[in-house]
Amino acid sequence: MCGIVGYIGTQQAAPLLLEGLTRLEHRGYDSAGIAVVGGGTAGALRIAKKAGRVRGLQADLPKRFTGKVGIGHTRWATHGPANDVNAHPHTNATHDVAVVHNGIIDNAAALRHRLADEGVELVSDTDTEVLAHLVGLSTADTLERRVSEALALVEGTYGLAVVHADFPDRIVVARNGSPLIIGVGEKEMHVASDLAALVRYTTTVAHLEDGEIATLTATGFTTYRTDLSHTSRPATTLDLDLTAYDPVGDGAEGGHMHREMLDQPAAAERVLRGRLDERFGTAHLGGLNMDARETRAIRRVKILGCGSAYYVGQMGASLVEELARIPADAEAASEFRYRDPVIEPDTLYVAVSQSGETIDTLLAVEEIRRKGGRVIGLVNVVGSAIARACDGGIYLHAGPEVAVASTKALTTMFLGFSLLALQLGRTRDLSIADGKRLIAGLQALPAQIEEVLKSEDQLALVAARLAEAESLFFIGRVRGFPVAREGAQKFKEITYRHAEAYQTSELKHGPLALISPVVPTVAIVPDDELADRNVAALHEISARGGPLVVVTHPDVDLGDVRCERIDVPRSERELDPILMTIPLQVLAFHAATTLGLDVDKPRNLAKSVTVE
Ligand code: F6R
Repeated sequence: MCGIVGYIGTQQAAPLLLEGLTRLEHRGYDSAGIAVVGGGTAGALRIAKKAGRVRGLQADLPKRFTGKVGIGHTRWATHGPANDVNAHPHTNATHDVAVVHNGIIDNAAALRHRLADEGVELVSDTDTEVLAHLVGLSTADTLERRVSEALALVEGTYGLAVVHADFPDRIVVARNGSPLIIGVGEKEMHVASDLAALVRYTTTVAHLEDGEIATLTATGFTTYRTDLSHTSRPATTLDLDLTAYDPVGDGAEGGHMHREMLDQPAAAERVLRGRLDERFGTAHLGGLNMDARETRAIRRVKILGCGSAYYVGQMGASLVEELARIPADAEAASEFRYRDPVIEPDTLYVAVSQSGETIDTLLAVEEIRRKGGRVIGLVNVVGSAIARACDGGIYLHAGPEVAVASTKALTTMFLGFSLLALQLGRTRDLSIADGKRLIAGLQALPAQIEEVLKSEDQLALVAARLAEAESLFFIGRVRGFPVAREGAQKFKEITYRHAEAYQTSELKHGPLALISPVVPTVAIVPDDELADRNVAALHEISARGGPLVVVTHPDVDLGDVRCERIDVPRSERELDPILMTIPLQVLAFHAATTLGLDVDKPRNLAKSVTVE
C-alpha cells in the first residue's frame, strides 16, 4: 500500500522518479507526487503532486523541474481524501523539507495538536505532514539527526524518505514496519519500497531493517540505528528474472492480471520443482526446519491469512486434514490476535501471504511468536517481513504479482499447502501409494491448468452474461466452499458487483429467498461424494428461475438442469479445488473487462495491505 521511490546521482531525478512510480502504481493510485532538490538554484526544493494517476502528474509537471536528487510517492489514502493537498510529498511551513511516507503514524493527532500549539499551521489531513514539520523544526546539525529527533517523537509504522534544501547532497530514509530497499547503481543510488521500482536500474540491493535509518549519497549509503549508531547492511546482487517485472500497457492487452493468470502453469511448475519425491511418495520441504519427529508431534494446524490468502488457507486446511488426518482450520489473520488466542505448543501455525507484508498477518505471526508458538510461512516475496518473522517456511516462487487481484500467487499457495499436507501425511498414516497418487496428480496440474485457460473464449461469453447481473451467488460445499468464496471475492473486487459466497447446503436456510431470474448463481460441483446433493440444489435454484453457471467435471450428470456448464479436467479429488478456481478468475476478469473497468487497479484497493 503506497509506493516510495528516491534517486540521487548524476542524472535528472524527475523522469526516473516518475518511471519508478509507474512501476509501483499498483501499490496505490489515489495520488502521486515528487520532490527534487537542486537544479538551477542550488538547494531549491520543488514539489509537484496531484490526485489521480502518475500519468496525470507527468502530463502536468512544470517545465525545468530539474535536480539530481529526489523522492516520489504514489498514495493509497488512509488519512483524508485523495486530493492534491493530501498527496505526498509533504513539506513544512518554510518549504525546505519534503517527506514521503508509507505506514501510519499512530500518535499523529497528538502531534498535530502539539504542532498547532507551537503555531505551526498544518494544511493537509494526513499523518505524514507532521513528520515534515518535525524534521523542519529541528535545528540539529545534520539531516540524519533531524530525522532521528523527529522519529523519536513518533509512534507507528513507517517507511519514509526525506530530502532537505539545506542538505542537497543526500536522501535520508528510515524504516519501521514498512519495507524500504536501497539500490546501488553506478555513481547513483536508488531507494524504493518495492523491488519492482529498482530492477530496471540495478539488482544490487540492501534491505533496510526495522529501526534503521540510512543516508544515500551519489556514491554510496550508510546505515544507522535510530540513535545513529552505525549498523552493517551489505548490499547483495539478486538473481532475478527481469522480464517478469516488465510493465504491461495500462489496461491494454489484458494488463497484469491477464498475464499473471496465463503464467499459472509455469508458476505451478516452479513451486513444485525439486520438492517432490516420487520414490517415497512424499515432499521435501527443507525450509520448514522441522525433522520427522517434530512434524509427528503436531496435534493441530492453524492457518492464518487475509482475503484470498485466507480462502486458500481454508483449502489448505482441508488438504492437511484429509492427507495428514491432523485437525486443521483457517482463520482471518486480521481477527486472530484481537480474540486473545490460546497458543498451543503442539499446534503448527501457518501464515500465508503473497506479499509477505500484510500487516494483519504479520502481527498475527508476532503474537504467536510472543506466546512461544511455532509458525511457518507460505510466502511469495523472498526476504519479506512475514518470511523473516517465521520459524521456517515454503517460498512460493510465483514470481512478481502486480495485479491487485491475486491469481498465480493463490495457485502456488494451494500447491504449497499440498506439499505441506503431503509431507505431514507421509510422516503419519498416508500410505506410500496415496503419496504417489497425489504426486502424479500434482505433476499433472500445470498442463491441466493450461487446459482450463484454453477455454478462455467460452468463459468470456459466460462472463459477459454474468456481468449484466447486479448481484450473484457463488456456492459450493466442503472442498468447494472456499473455491466459491475465492470466486466471489475475485468477482466482486474487480467488477464491483455484489457477489456472495454461500455453502450450497445453507441456501435453504435463508438465501434461497433471493434467487430470481436476475440473480445468477455460480455453483461448484465436483465429481465427489457430494455430487448428488449438489445437483439436487441446482434443481431447487433452477425451479425458482435462477440462472446457473456450473463449474463441474465431465462425468457429472446434471440431468435436465438448465445451466451454462463449465467442465474442468479431473484431478485427484483432494486437488480439485485449484482447477475449479481457475475458471472463476477468468470469469471475473472478463466480466470486469466487459464492464470496461480497470481490472488491474480496482477502485478503493491497492496491492499489499500494510496498514491495519
Ligand atoms: C484478492 C487479494 C487480497 C489478498 C490479501 C492478502 O485478490 O489479492 O485479498 O489476498 O490482501 O494479501 P497477501 O497474500 O499479500 O498477504
